[in-house]
Amino acid sequence: MAFLEMIGLKKRYGNVEILKGIDLTLDKGGFLVLVGPSGCGKSTLLNTIAGLETITDGEIRIDGERVNDLHPSKRDIAMVFQSYALYPNMTVAQNIAFGLEMRGVAKPERDKAVDGVAKMLQIGHLLDRKPSQLSGGQRQRVAMGRALTRNPRVFLFDEPLSNLDAKLRVDMRTEIKRLHQATGATIVYVTHDQIEAMTLATKIAVLKDGEVQQVGTPHEIYNRPANLFVADFMGSPAMNLLKAQVAADAGRTVLRLARGHGGADILLPVPPSVGAGSALSAGQDLILGIRPEAITDKDSADKHSTAIEFVDAYVEVVEPAGSDTFVVTQAGGKEVIARMRSDADVRAGQTIPFAFNLDKAVVFDPATGRRI
Ligand SMILES: Nc1ncnc2c1ncn2[C@@H]1O[C@H](COP(=O)(O)OP(=O)(O)O)[C@@H](O)[C@H]1O
Ligand SMILES: [Mg+2]
Repeated sequence: MAFLEMIGLKKRYGNVEILKGIDLTLDKGGFLVLVGPSGCGKSTLLNTIAGLETITDGEIRIDGERVNDLHPSKRDIAMVFQSYALYPNMTVAQNIAFGLEMRGVAKPERDKAVDGVAKMLQIGHLLDRKPSQLSGGQRQRVAMGRALTRNPRVFLFDEPLSNLDAKLRVDMRTEIKRLHQATGATIVYVTHDQIEAMTLATKIAVLKDGEVQQVGTPHEIYNRPANLFVADFMGSPAMNLLKAQVAADAGRTVLRLARGHGGADILLPVPPSVGAGSALSAGQDLILGIRPEAITDKDSADKHSTAIEFVDAYVEVVEPAGSDTFVVTQAGGKEVIARMRSDADVRAGQTIPFAFNLDKAVVFDPATGRRI
């Protein structure tokens, strides 16, 4: 039995259904990341778990216990919000210990708890400061420390890093991951940042308009997106989604894509991800999904791949990005982004062979948006 269960969970505000029947589970010690565009219902879902919002229908269980009607204070959950409201007149130590004090925990035990989380979060040297004397990242750590002293059944985080600058966000991300590994806490974490989702989660749920689009490990979500929405949402730069058509060529089934800048169509074998059971018929429209890193220069083609196809294409733009170089061409009626070595010898205006790794390609039905 999963530790945290959401079963057919619905939430309506007036006539508007915000959560449309969410089914999600999380094992003890798991790290579930809810990801999706702004307004899709991530915070609402988190608030229903915390008990800050009532649910219209469905059930929430923690460790087998139905908590629908349980007061937030009785759910044994700690929540960290995007805006980490600290008490301005209290020191860091007092802020962290406040919850314990309210629950009548004795001073020596409080001090021990504060020391413990301060060490873990590396804020021991800040304990006597007031919040106004802290940076944004330090404040966020204090807010987290306050939650951590609780040792609750479940931690809920609602975009805790979104107010921080890029560098700090990356540092804190690592810190949270370390924390999870060290404590084995059960965490539900909301973000609209797909990289944060990929790096932190043991399990990702991608939401759109109050519905779960896909649940899976980061690897599954990234490599086998269930539909076009997930494919497009996860990954940066985004997956190339190219118009293709099923065709017969010399007795085998192939995918035909329009070549940019004129010339004969591109013919590619059907990617291995398309199961043998999926009958493709000649003339059928498809969307070929292939990530930038699966289109490389010739020398960087994955030696382990069973399906590299070379396609000569015209280089429109070359964008050096330090560790790699992004190269833009056209295929399937769209701009295609390839990710090449930083020292690949490529210049705009050339026609060069692009290596398509079809082991990493997926195919979607444009009518339903679903992966085939
Ligand atoms: N108290 C409320 N009353 C009415 N609508 C709300 C309320 N809270 C949130 N909403 C609506 O619910 C939708 C989901 O909001 P929210 O859960 O905050 O999204 P997210 O956190 O994914 O950005 C939004 O369209 C928002 O306007
Ligand atoms: Mg939100």
